[in-house]
Amino acid sequence: MDSVGIVIARRPPSESSFEFELEGDAAPGDFVEVPVEAGALVARVAGVRVENQYLAESGVVRELRLGLRMPSAAALASAEVRVARAEALGIVSGASVLPPIQPPSPGSRVYRAAPETLRALLGLAEGGVELGRLWRHGLEVELDPERLFRHHVAVLGSTGSGKSYTCGVLAEEALERGLPAVILDFHGEYATLGERYRVRSVRANRVKLEPGSVSPDAIADATEMTDVQRDLLYLAFDEAEGPSLEDLERAAERVAERYGFKRETLLAVLRRLRMLKAQRVFTGEGEPLYLSEGEAVVVDLGLGLPGGATRALAGAIAWWLFEGRRAGEQPPFLLVADEAHRLLPQDEQAFSKAALRLVAREGRKFGASLAVASQRVVGLDKDVLSQCGTKIALRMDSPTDLAMLKPLLGRHARLLPRLPTGVALVAGVAVGYPVLVEVRKRRTSHGGSGAPLFAR
Ligand SMILES: Nc1ncnc2c1ncn2[C@@H]1O[C@H](COP(=O)(O)OP(=O)(O)OP(=O)(O)O)[C@@H](O)[C@H]1O
Ligand SMILES: [Mg+2]
Repeated sequence: MDSVGIVIARRPPSESSFEFELEGDAAPGDFVEVPVEAGALVARVAGVRVENQYLAESGVVRELRLGLRMPSAAALASAEVRVARAEALGIVSGASVLPPIQPPSPGSRVYRAAPETLRALLGLAEGGVELGRLWRHGLEVELDPERLFRHHVAVLGSTGSGKSYTCGVLAEEALERGLPAVILDFHGEYATLGERYRVRSVRANRVKLEPGSVSPDAIADATEMTDVQRDLLYLAFDEAEGPSLEDLERAAERVAERYGFKRETLLAVLRRLRMLKAQRVFTGEGEPLYLSEGEAVVVDLGLGLPGGATRALAGAIAWWLFEGRRAGEQPPFLLVADEAHRLLPQDEQAFSKAALRLVAREGRKFGASLAVASQRVVGLDKDVLSQCGTKIALRMDSPTDLAMLKPLLGRHARLLPRLPTGVALVAGVAVGYPVLVEVRKRRTSHGGSGAPLFAR
């Protein structure tokens, strides 16, 4: 094992933290271990400082300049000491992890944590989801697929930080295990999964959906109905004789007459239903969506439809899949919602929000998993975010977003603004402690690099 230093006692070591004089290489965030009676005490370097006794007093520079005190360069260099502060995480004894109940003895050697120790501490699973490598340790981070997928995942980061790339890795990992992945794709970034996996690409409005198979809220949100228009629509839904938009139109006419709705209201509702027909939304065209093992379905949402219609389509697809799963008609699946802030606006009503909240809240019981990616934390629905058991936080600059994440990620959140692309702080149920992970290379190419601005 690599020795990196020796425990010192200038500040007496406690069971929660200690200091060691650095001899080797260690940086904040690194894991170290110290042998104690109960096993290996694992700690994380919280900070490193450089001390030099010659230069420790104020006024020393002036004295140096005046030649009053002039240690040689060699003396100065030999007096330099680097001291690391480490925070204890746990004691690993064989495969079990105890809380850190023993402080290390001063004078003990501190080692860079061994792979087996880290695997035990972090609860990494052999043969698990290969997310990447532990940053600066190189250890393969394999996460228990049950814990990762079943409890949902949020991928957060500034634009260009690697969210879509990471979602691609998650989709690959699901598909490798036979778990179908459905990707709500705004930018045509995911069709490249077809280089290695079975992929079905469908335009969102070519998935067979009609009023009879979606909630009235989807229709109302898609067409931005007012409250009274919604009232009429809901009554028409109960009255409709068949599942189609035409059945709904006829029912609306009958209901408006029976309950004395104003003529303008009826006309406004009919106009909205016809608008859907013109946009070919919820017209029942296309094939119903049934998932099959190991297959990816890439749903193209970049159709140029109004936001409400796009959100309603995405929501209706999520709803359809979830209800199908609940009824045992669909296999367990992973639903990936990239650009999730567009589907999960914090303060606006949106059917996509209702549907994704349903999957987030109830999916765990039925094997309906969710991965959401967003460049915004503020403005993203808190319900869904809090249901995501694992947070994968990539580089993030916005102070308001960072402030929001701080309670979830703890003090490590301060590392986020300076993370390189593709390095993520992973925290939550899938890892024992928040860890920095260098997300692995894709097995298929990333479709989201964008066209070059300048020809070469
Ligand atoms: N783990 C990684 N390994 C190698 N390259 C990566 C990795 N993650 C991201 N990249 C590269 O960084 C660039 C940006 O990544 P990506 O498209 O995933 O960003 P994004 O966060 O989805 O951005 P946006 O918010 O604009 O959608 C891509 O060109 C991609 O190839
Ligand atoms: Mg992206």
